[in-house]
Amino acid sequence: MRLVRWTPDDLVRRLDDVVAVYGEAMGYRADLLEARRGYIATHSRRPGFRAVASLTSEGHLAGFGYGYLGASGQWWHDQVLRALDGEARQRWLTHPFEVVELHVRPPAQGHGLGTRQLRALLTMAEGDTTLLSTPEADERTSRAWRLYRRFGFVDVLRHFHFPGDERPFGVLGRDLPLPAPEPDGS
Ligand SMILES: CC(C)(COP(=O)(O)OP(=O)(O)OC[C@H]1O[C@@H](n2cnc3c(N)ncnc32)[C@H](O)[C@@H]1OP(=O)(O)O)[C@@H](O)C(=O)NCCC(=O)NCCS
Repeated sequence: MRLVRWTPDDLVRRLDDVVAVYGEAMGYRADLLEARRGYIATHSRRPGFRAVASLTSEGHLAGFGYGYLGASGQWWHDQVLRALDGEARQRWLTHPFEVVELHVRPPAQGHGLGTRQLRALLTMAEGDTTLLSTPEADERTSRAWRLYRRFGFVDVLRHFHFPGDERPFGVLGRDLPLPAPEPDGS
């Protein structure tokens, strides 16, 4: 398995595969995925865009992740901004890198790909903080929650409802840059 950095054009070229992996990982219906396709192409043109992909030796897409610099006027950013008080806005939204998607195909999960993807993304990211949202779940049994906690993400908002989505979400954040990895063997 190879972890590669993707340019915006790389992501758009592999949009069919990206949407398929996204749908498989999240268990979403086809109609929801069609809407997502347009958003992903738009996201790839935003300032500070960074993307990574896990590719098999045959070049098949096993996972991907991307994010960009959050700013006023962007839907997700504005929803979170409205829900925070002044101090929290200052703390989290001054110069944030927003992790928009991070997914691994179910058969490839649990082998460290998600961890590598997230570390690579946050290492390449600009920004003083990083933020993401993920559906509320049992933190002990959800792979996503365990992963984010391992990376030191803390609660920014809990049980938050984005317009048009019935599910409650956690919005999580941490400071950037990430600390340097521990040297092997220590
Ligand atoms: C969340 C998600 C991206 C994590 O990716 P992943 O590749 O499964 O995660 P990892 O393999 O890096 O970590 C999972 C486990 O494998 C372990 N692991 C890490 N490296 C490993 C390795 N080399 N070999 C074996 N196991 C390893 C981790 O310790 C971790 O253990 P834990 O789940 O008990 O805490 C992925 O599971 C996914 O796409 N889920 C569905 C969609 C989703 O929830 N996306 C996020 C929504 S915002």
